[in-house]
Amino acid sequence: MKKKNHPVFENVEILAAAAEGKSVARVDSRVIFIANAVPGDVADIQITRKERKFFEGKAINFHKYSDKRVEPTCIHFGVCGGCKWQHMDYHWQLHYKQQQVFDALTRIGKVEIPELIPILGSKETFNYRNRLDFSFSNKKWLTNEEIEGGVEFADRNALGFHIPGTFDKVLDISECHLQGKLSEDIRKFVREFARANNYIFFDIKVQAGFLRILTIRTSSTGETMVIFQFYKDQPDAREELLNALAKKFPEITSLIYFINPKGNDTFHDLEVHLHAGRDHIFEAMEDLQFKIGPKSFYQTNSAQAYELYKITRDFAGLTGTENVYDLYTGTGTIALFVAKLAKKVIGIEMIAAAIEDAKQNAKLNNISNTEFFAADMKDMFNDAFIAQHGKPDVIITDPPRAGMHEDVVRCIARSGAKKIVYVSCNPASQARDLAILDEMYRIVKVQPVDMFPQTHHVENVVLLEKR
Ligand SMILES: C[S@@+](CC[C@H](N)C(=O)[O-])C[C@H]1O[C@@H](n2cnc3c(N)ncnc32)[C@H](O)[C@@H]1O
Repeated sequence: MKKKNHPVFENVEILAAAAEGKSVARVDSRVIFIANAVPGDVADIQITRKERKFFEGKAINFHKYSDKRVEPTCIHFGVCGGCKWQHMDYHWQLHYKQQQVFDALTRIGKVEIPELIPILGSKETFNYRNRLDFSFSNKKWLTNEEIEGGVEFADRNALGFHIPGTFDKVLDISECHLQGKLSEDIRKFVREFARANNYIFFDIKVQAGFLRILTIRTSSTGETMVIFQFYKDQPDAREELLNALAKKFPEITSLIYFINPKGNDTFHDLEVHLHAGRDHIFEAMEDLQFKIGPKSFYQTNSAQAYELYKITRDFAGLTGTENVYDLYTGTGTIALFVAKLAKKVIGIEMIAAAIEDAKQNAKLNNISNTEFFAADMKDMFNDAFIAQHGKPDVIITDPPRAGMHEDVVRCIARSGAKKIVYVSCNPASQARDLAILDEMYRIVKVQPVDMFPQTHHVENVVLLEKR
């Protein structure tokens, strides 16, 4: 929305990519973050927000399009919040991801780093995700064209993705290029079936309706899990929908539902109902198998997860004699992936169900040198725990976006481990943690990895050695 005192700057050259999928320009030494431009564009910029240290704006009139641009593949680009960099050539996406890591480590971490190993790009730049969550809503987001077209939309039902910045508006997705054809076909079938049978799509604001969330999970072994969340149970409607889906798609190996009358969309605390097939699917990596239930976490880009784990294992440089800690272990995938090369691996993770999966997966793979513990890291990983379970030779840590609690970082710094392998999905929080470790640990290798093509997200693996 244009505000009275918000200026338009003309003929501004966009200089580089910035955080959160935005790009950056400078006018009179003022930094401007722009949501809809690519480095190399020249455009008039309408300022939308003024802060003391920076402005935000959007390009309203382009004078030159950057040669780093490509035609976006998806018709929803620009409206859907999912793939903010789809208009940038993949080569340049990788360039700016690498730059993002370098900037975070040097500007936020202010730590000495060796030359970065070039970012490892993803072979698949579309259809790389093994999981998508689609929301049902009776408040379909209307695009500008739809509003300007003046057509009355009696049917405001949508199945798709939340519009960024709104909590109840959902974009009705007619195509998504992130998971492959089967996922597309299942989503379309479900929407048409629901419409034809007048099923009530969820009203997020009022908290009412029947159909709430559709989750589709696929695995590299060719299995497919479909999970529904219904706001309330309507047994006849539920049975009709699930039977029709199972009949139409015999490829679905696991058909599951939850009844979720809660105020949020998580189902970790809800009972699993199995409609058809098995209550799990399998993922495979080298000679390992991972059993994945509806509540289990698994890295969403399976092929790149394998690359990420190989780099992690390579950085750890294990010889079979080491005591390894795998912090934030999730379902224990990294712990199990390196176990063969270690004396013992200890995995710690907050979600109890994930730890149960990790234990089951150890058994399934006949791995007996792992131990898994469920707790908040800052409460469990401390000097007493280390005294009881043995001094670590190598610590692998893979925290969530927020990074590690300072107590955890300080405990790692005191641990005496010879090596630390820090895997991160957020270079900014990683840089903050590295700054604390810097006194005791020297950064030896830095390897960014692209797990999420078409987005600004970047994963980064850092090897530290004790000074
Ligand atoms: C980026 S995932 C890493 C998962 C695992 N390493 C993998 O590759 O699948 C981060 C994990 O940290 C866990 N987590 C988040 N906060 C935590 C905390 N305070 N204490 C322990 N675990 C936590 C999350 O549940 C999640 O499983």
